[in-house]
Amino acid sequence: MNWYRIKTALIGLKRLAELTDEDKQACIDGFKFLQRMQNGEPTETADETKAVADYYKVLNNMLSVFDLEKLYIPPQLDESQGLYGNQLLVEQAVLKELDLKDPRGSHLLDMGCGRGRVSYHFAKLTGGRVSGYNVDANQIESAIDWAAECRMSDRLHFKVGNHHEPLEYESGTFDGCFSFQAVWPFFKKEELDAHAEEMHRVLKPGARYACSEYLLTPHFDWDNEEHVTLHKSFLPTLAATQSMYPADVCAALERAGFTVVLSAPSKSIRALEAVRVLPPWVEESLDLLQSGGQSWTDAEKAKIADLNWRIVAEKPPV
Ligand SMILES: C[S@@+](CC[C@H](N)C(=O)[O-])C[C@H]1O[C@@H](n2cnc3c(N)ncnc32)[C@H](O)[C@@H]1O
Repeated sequence: MNWYRIKTALIGLKRLAELTDEDKQACIDGFKFLQRMQNGEPTETADETKAVADYYKVLNNMLSVFDLEKLYIPPQLDESQGLYGNQLLVEQAVLKELDLKDPRGSHLLDMGCGRGRVSYHFAKLTGGRVSGYNVDANQIESAIDWAAECRMSDRLHFKVGNHHEPLEYESGTFDGCFSFQAVWPFFKKEELDAHAEEMHRVLKPGARYACSEYLLTPHFDWDNEEHVTLHKSFLPTLAATQSMYPADVCAALERAGFTVVLSAPSKSIRALEAVRVLPPWVEESLDLLQSGGQSWTDAEKAKIADLNWRIVAEKPPV
């Protein structure tokens, strides 16, 4: 284990120790709320967002102790690489989709930026600026600390923000925006338009949105009891509140004025091989999240849901 890992684990443990009893209880209540939601309890978006933020406040520090600092599971793009190596690969792929004309002069937006480590990677690759927002102040604190530690506070800007409210950025600010399992899992179908319009507003003409996001595949059938049972079990494990079809997200993006360039399943080599044992690092990460891991594995094998669906959309040039 290298020095960075030891230090991150220690910081994670320290931040966990600093959490109050109320924080810990709110995390447990948040998870129970997510489970009740999947059992059919009607809920309001504001309460769902609070449950998610309370849950992530503890989870982000817990997972950082176990080497999961970017809070998403990537597709397995290279069998010889572990979780972190595959995260780097999928991030490079998403950046490529943004098709930046002037990477060094670019300003990107990381939506639901977690602890800011993906933004950091993008800023390193482009040489430009990245702004990020997240609903959980605790993750934003970690992101700001990390930017300062890397002496990149002039190029990395983080603040608390909520997808369900207007984005706090001027119109036409960004040369691209991106998200990793952080946007669409928190939207109801009727809420998609408002966020798509905000994304369109903050981008410059000709700029793109690209993502690797949890979405249902077109094979998921809400009338299929087996699908619905698996879904009920795995969704709280993903700390997600909603499951959208790619077609619904793309339709909202198009209504907002985007041209959809790509909507496709994850490139994971797993997805190409029907029955295949998951690599140990995926199973370990899912085990960390306890129950529901098996349901996710079954759902993925049945190809009814995808953690890394790819969408690329462009705001037309003027
Ligand atoms: C699966 S994690 C991915 C985080 C980040 N993209 C990364 O890769 O580390 C989902 C993230 O979405 C954030 N999130 C959930 N609901 C949100 C909302 N309404 N507004 C902004 N961020 C939100 C969570 O706090 C969490 O950081």
